[in-house]
Amino acid sequence: MFAVFDNVISKEYCQILKSRIESWYNYCLDENSKNNIWQWEKRVLDATPLRIIPNHKSSFERNYNLNAETMRVQDEVFDIVINLLKTKLNVDLELVRIELQTWPINTNGPLHSHNESNEKTDYNSLLYLNDDFNGGEFYTENGLIVRPTPGRLTFFDGFNIRHGVADIYDNNRYTMIFWWNNTKFK
Ligand SMILES: [Fe+2]
Repeated sequence: MFAVFDNVISKEYCQILKSRIESWYNYCLDENSKNNIWQWEKRVLDATPLRIIPNHKSSFERNYNLNAETMRVQDEVFDIVINLLKTKLNVDLELVRIELQTWPINTNGPLHSHNESNEKTDYNSLLYLNDDFNGGEFYTENGLIVRPTPGRLTFFDGFNIRHGVADIYDNNRYTMIFWWNNTKFK
C-alpha cells in the first residue's frame, strides 16, 4: 500500500514550515563549517506537537524560530494529516514524532528501510514543502517514483519498503516527515 494525496495543506502553510527549517539549516551553516551537511542534527528540527510529547524537554533546537504562529501551523498540520489518513484510509495510527527536514543541494538518500532503527515505528508520511529544485524524486526499490510538490502527502510502510531520494540539484529540498506506529487497517 502506497498512498499519495495532493493539496493537503496550503502553499502558505508550506512556506511557513519551509521558512522555519530553512532558517535553522542556514543558521547551522553560518555557525559551523560549510562541510557538515551530513550532520543530521543540522538538517532536522523537531515539530512534534507538545500535546503528543508533553514531557519532551524544551531545547534550543526544538524552540528555534518557533513562535505562536509556527507552533499553531505545525499543530494544525498534524491534525489535518492524521484526520485525512484516518478518514481516507480507515486506519488507526499513533504519532511517534514529526520532523522538518532539509535535504541539501547536491545530496541524495540511498535506498534504505527503517527496520534497523532502535525506535519502534512502522509507517511514514512525507509532506513536501517546496519544488524549486531539480531532481530529488522519492523512489522505492520497486520502481515507484514520487515527485515532490508542495502540499503533496505520502503514506507508506517505511519499515518494510526500501526507499530513497534521488540527487538534488539547484536548491535545497524541504520536507516534513511523520513517523507513525501501531498502524492498523480496519
Ligand atoms: Fe527513510
